[in-house]
Amino acid sequence: MTTITKVALGKNGPLVSKLGLGCMRMSPVWGGVARDESESIATIHAALDSGINFLNTGDFYGSGHNELLVGKAIKGRRDDAFISVKFGAIFYGSQWLGLDLRPIAIKNFINYSLVRLGIDTIDLYQPCRLDNSVPIEDVVGTIADLIKEGKVRHLGVSEITADQLRKAHSVHPVTALEIGYSLADRQIESDLLPTAKELGIGVVAFANTAEGLLTGDMKAPLPADAYQNHFSRFQGENLIKNLEKVEVLKQMAKDKGYTPTQLAIAWVNAQGDHILPLVSMNRKSRLEENMQAMGVTFTADEMNTLNTHFSPGAILGGTYLHR
Ligand SMILES: NC(=O)c1ccc[n+]([C@@H]2O[C@H](COP(=O)([O-])OP(=O)(O)OC[C@H]3O[C@@H](n4cnc5c(N)ncnc54)[C@H](OP(=O)(O)O)[C@@H]3O)[C@@H](O)[C@H]2O)c1
Repeated sequence: MTTITKVALGKNGPLVSKLGLGCMRMSPVWGGVARDESESIATIHAALDSGINFLNTGDFYGSGHNELLVGKAIKGRRDDAFISVKFGAIFYGSQWLGLDLRPIAIKNFINYSLVRLGIDTIDLYQPCRLDNSVPIEDVVGTIADLIKEGKVRHLGVSEITADQLRKAHSVHPVTALEIGYSLADRQIESDLLPTAKELGIGVVAFANTAEGLLTGDMKAPLPADAYQNHFSRFQGENLIKNLEKVEVLKQMAKDKGYTPTQLAIAWVNAQGDHILPLVSMNRKSRLEENMQAMGVTFTADEMNTLNTHFSPGAILGGTYLHR
């Protein structure tokens, strides 16, 4: 089995696995049913056994279901896991209602998270977004207080702008930025990535497969009940043209003896030592395939082909990442 190396998350940050396990899709976030619990827990255990310690959850993933699941999985092996939690999203069932980032709300959220996870301290705690309703100083200041109290180890942020990142970092050192990044979504390369690098902030990059577009498994049109239908990238002509683009990735994967998903993860991994791919895996069978991606290397020509073919904006239409 491939072993996963550990890297510092941000400048002088905690040691975490270079590949993170995204647990979100083990729970019904946007409706539907939870994945098979025993398979989900077996996947988390297999990840921990392989040296993947970075586990990502959110208090709103399945209204607490995801944290309860992760809590069950890490019971008795807390020291093997680095727990990253997002908060702030308010859902009614599977309906997104907005954000609540008030200090009073954050203090309430963390109590519930700690109980559901069955732990005393969250390793990385982060607002899932920021808005203008609460000053950044108050949001970050509240997490800084939780760090002083020992309920949190490190401050993270997610889905923010370069200016917001600078501001947050000036209030309290930010250890990690969680952000969508893939061959299909490279808009952060212009300012957010360079800012994170300059400030010594680790980048936890999710949606490496671009909602499944880069897996090579997608076919147009998508089934009527596919959630991706909400986004213009996956609709009509856009999807047809985008899938044609993916053919180059499929061919390169075939030539190199890998799967398109492996190359999509490997491309993100190759963007820097401070960039950590965070990948959703709900079944043990995905784990070994995605771990092998961390060993894939590209020649300069291959990298050039991918960067040119998937230049920023080459994939048509948006997703929730393009707000
Ligand atoms: N901060 C934020 O705003 C935010 C937003 C979204 C997600 N996240 C976090 O980031 C993690 C990853 O994000 P994501 O789920 O959107 O993106 P992702 O990792 O690209 O996963 C998307 C889909 O790719 C599929 N996949 C994974 N490995 C595969 C393989 N080897 N072959 C074929 N398909 C494969 C999975 O399908 P199956 O379901 O079929 O296994 C999954 O549903 C989440 O779990 C969550 O923890 C954060």
